[in-house]
Amino acid sequence: MRVLSGIQPTGLIHIGSYLGAIKHWIELQEKKECVFFIADLHALTVLREPKTLQKDIFELAAELLAVGLDPKKCIIFVQSQVKEHTELTWLLNTITPVAELERMTQYKTKTKQFKKNVNAGLLNYPVLQAADILLYQTNLVPVGKDQLQHLELTRTIARKFNQRFGRYPPAGPIFIEPKALITEIGAKIMALTEPKKKMSKSFPKSCLYLFDNPKIIREKIMTAVTDPGKEIKYNLSKKPGISNLLTIYNLFSGRTIKEIEKEFKGKGYQIFKEKLAQLLIKKLEPFRRKKKEFELNQAFLEKTLEDGRKRAQVIAEKTMKNVRKKMGLSSF
Ligand code: ADP
Ligand code: TRP
Repeated sequence: MRVLSGIQPTGLIHIGSYLGAIKHWIELQEKKECVFFIADLHALTVLREPKTLQKDIFELAAELLAVGLDPKKCIIFVQSQVKEHTELTWLLNTITPVAELERMTQYKTKTKQFKKNVNAGLLNYPVLQAADILLYQTNLVPVGKDQLQHLELTRTIARKFNQRFGRYPPAGPIFIEPKALITEIGAKIMALTEPKKKMSKSFPKSCLYLFDNPKIIREKIMTAVTDPGKEIKYNLSKKPGISNLLTIYNLFSGRTIKEIEKEFKGKGYQIFKEKLAQLLIKKLEPFRRKKKEFELNQAFLEKTLEDGRKRAQVIAEKTMKNVRKKMGLSSF
């Protein structure tokens, strides 16, 4: 049972990506074979400053290790370092209908957001993602809800590829059809500033970053948009702001939403927010400390990513050898 997931180096980790995805990666590495990577090629689909990309990649690596990814328990590497990702992307492109790509929600959002840079990479983004996943014969992909559509497309591409090329000897499926792993609570943490929108790095103001300092954490929580009324009650349609804060409280404290509602009955938003800020400051403190330690050890980060690349490459090469044969690009 192999698990794989990726994250783009387009900004720092926020509590949305942590609760929706990375927290599960950390649990999964204890019991499954896990492959995690920094998706730098995906990040190129929006304009990047070449001078800062390397720094962003290493900072994200430091953050991933600080929150608990352990190179002894999983493979961690940088996507562009394993060339098979781009090779397989091209091959999968040749069987992916353009119409399927054009209906992707993320593509539609991004073409609106980055009107001046609607490049072919934005359209082909999900094909690269499919290549990432299929290359490693992945069974499970832990992601947030926003990625479900890309996962469905990956399954469609795998199926199509298997049907088309799987009949050549030795006959049988070439790719495993992966499943998304989504946990209902936390799969979509909403923006603190606009609780009807997803918290996203594309909108930095919407985010509470895992490594924000205590003063900023308090400020962001105390000014988080809430709803009319003053009751602390979970109700997604009528109280999206408070429901989002309750979800965050629940996931960081391990206490149920019912218990939290009971504790804050009749106490009002201000007290609830103050307690939530205190909880986050306390829970996030070790992350801040460890990030600093890892950042001071560039040699360790480099070695970790290089070791990861080597281990990933072995798996990727094996799949590609078979794919090339099945497509007639090398002899049987
Ligand atoms: P962003 O959308 O902010 O750019 P990333 O691309 O870094 O986030 O996402 C990394 C992982 O975190 C993905 O699996 C994604 O589904 C998940 N994720 C991102 N934002 C959220 C959120 N607000 N709630 C839950 N999961 C999220
Ligand atoms: N597209 C994902 C995101 O924006 C990141 C990603 C790239 C990914 N390749 C992947 C996630 C493969 C899971 C599997 O969050």
